[in-house]
Amino acid sequence: MNKIDVLIGLQWGDEGKGKIVDMLTPGYDVIARFNGGPNAGHTIEFAGMKHVLHIIPSGIFHQEKINLIGNGVLIEPRIFQTEIEGLARKGVDATKNLLISKKTHLILPSHRMLDAANEQAKGAGKIGSTLKGIGPAYTDKVARNGMRVGDILSDDFKERYNALKQSHIRTAKSLQFDIDSFQIDGRSMQEYEQEWLHSIELLKQFQLVNSEYFINQCVKKGMKVLAEGAQAMMLDIDFGTYPFVTSSSTTAAGVCTGLGVAPQLIGKVFGVTKAYCTRVGAGPFPTELFDETGRRLCEVGHEYGATTGRPRRCGWIDLPALRYACMVNGVTDLFVTKPDVMNDFDQIGMCVAYDIDGTTTDEIPYEYCTKTIRPVLKNLPGWKTDLTGTTSYADLPAQLRACMDEIEHQTGVAIAAVSISPDRKDVLFKTALMQ
Ligand code: GDP
Ligand code: IMO
Ligand code: MG
Repeated sequence: MNKIDVLIGLQWGDEGKGKIVDMLTPGYDVIARFNGGPNAGHTIEFAGMKHVLHIIPSGIFHQEKINLIGNGVLIEPRIFQTEIEGLARKGVDATKNLLISKKTHLILPSHRMLDAANEQAKGAGKIGSTLKGIGPAYTDKVARNGMRVGDILSDDFKERYNALKQSHIRTAKSLQFDIDSFQIDGRSMQEYEQEWLHSIELLKQFQLVNSEYFINQCVKKGMKVLAEGAQAMMLDIDFGTYPFVTSSSTTAAGVCTGLGVAPQLIGKVFGVTKAYCTRVGAGPFPTELFDETGRRLCEVGHEYGATTGRPRRCGWIDLPALRYACMVNGVTDLFVTKPDVMNDFDQIGMCVAYDIDGTTTDEIPYEYCTKTIRPVLKNLPGWKTDLTGTTSYADLPAQLRACMDEIEHQTGVAIAAVSISPDRKDVLFKTALMQ
């Protein structure tokens, strides 16, 4: 039976999903995003060009492939327009090969205002949201108040928009939020709203489809589909470090609800992890390094958010969290990115278990956000070699391969490939599986 492959992040996001999806795209006919929205920032580099995608799937640079925005995604039309224009400047006409589910929910300007209002109300307990309106838009979806892409074609769109906006204003007022001074991307709410409404017209130029039928027909016809996840396992609404999470299902299970496919249609589950670990925003991060090593990871790894520009917190790889991610998602193949960032390191730290109140465990405890979790570290020797120009896995330094062996041993999942630069071409396959 023809099946859909899935690619997800296994840590707290920014593992290099965009790069790996772009690299894998030639082997697929359709790339379909199933969750998240403009909170995502997926970076793709090739031929000296760097591009960051937020809502649009990472297969878009392969113009002969179909890219689909699934029902589980959120679209912010103004941000979407900026993305479309950015692609056009690079010669990519997305109107040709990008389809959008009519069931995709819309982020309104007032959702973005509510995001800011909620964060302000949380004070010191704030999540560190990207302020793109994600939480409020998914809240409206679940509360059955949301607006969907298909609604832009209906006659009462404007009335429904205004009614929802008014309810958001009432909520923001109840949170004592200063609505009048609130700005979105340097514009007043009124200015931004006009631009947003204008962008709705652009959305109408795209093929708006019943994507669950579309995708199931693709599978039936034998077309190869890759489902692209945004965010990552540890930011999942159910299994992440709640409440310091995003508001969508980031796991492989999210593919079924985010695209409308049955569980038995899921084939391979590709999990992407950095060779170390990062997190942007608030919340627990047991392996975080506050020392010179952490600063080196941040500087050498250019660990600044692709969406917000915020510095990412950095630390050693967290193998209990990775094991948990492999278990919940049924990961079949691992992709490890960015070991090249540690080329100069004498030692590579790996967290193999947690010490919680003097007890060692390799499980993710329910009290992840409330207990102090100390990493139990295993140090492996560094490779102290520049990886530039390495073209095969076998040619990687023995110390680096030993680190990869440790990841395989600790997770019980085979590594498919290791990425050693931001460029699409620098992916070294360990197994012949995907080549
Ligand atoms: P995503 O959100 O998972 O798609 O990841 P991001 O694009 O937010 O962040 C990953 C960053 O690492 C981007 O700047 C990529 O260009 C970069 N990157 C990806 N793979 C590698 C790699 O193997 N080595 C290095 N040095 N950088 C990489
Ligand atoms: P990609 O797809 C890293 C984080 C935010 C914040 C929390 C909630 O590029 O890996 P939200 O805006 O969703 O309400 O923010 O989740 N976050 C991400 N961190 N990469 C992402 O996406 C993220 N999307 C959201 O920093 O802590
Ligand atoms: Mg990112």
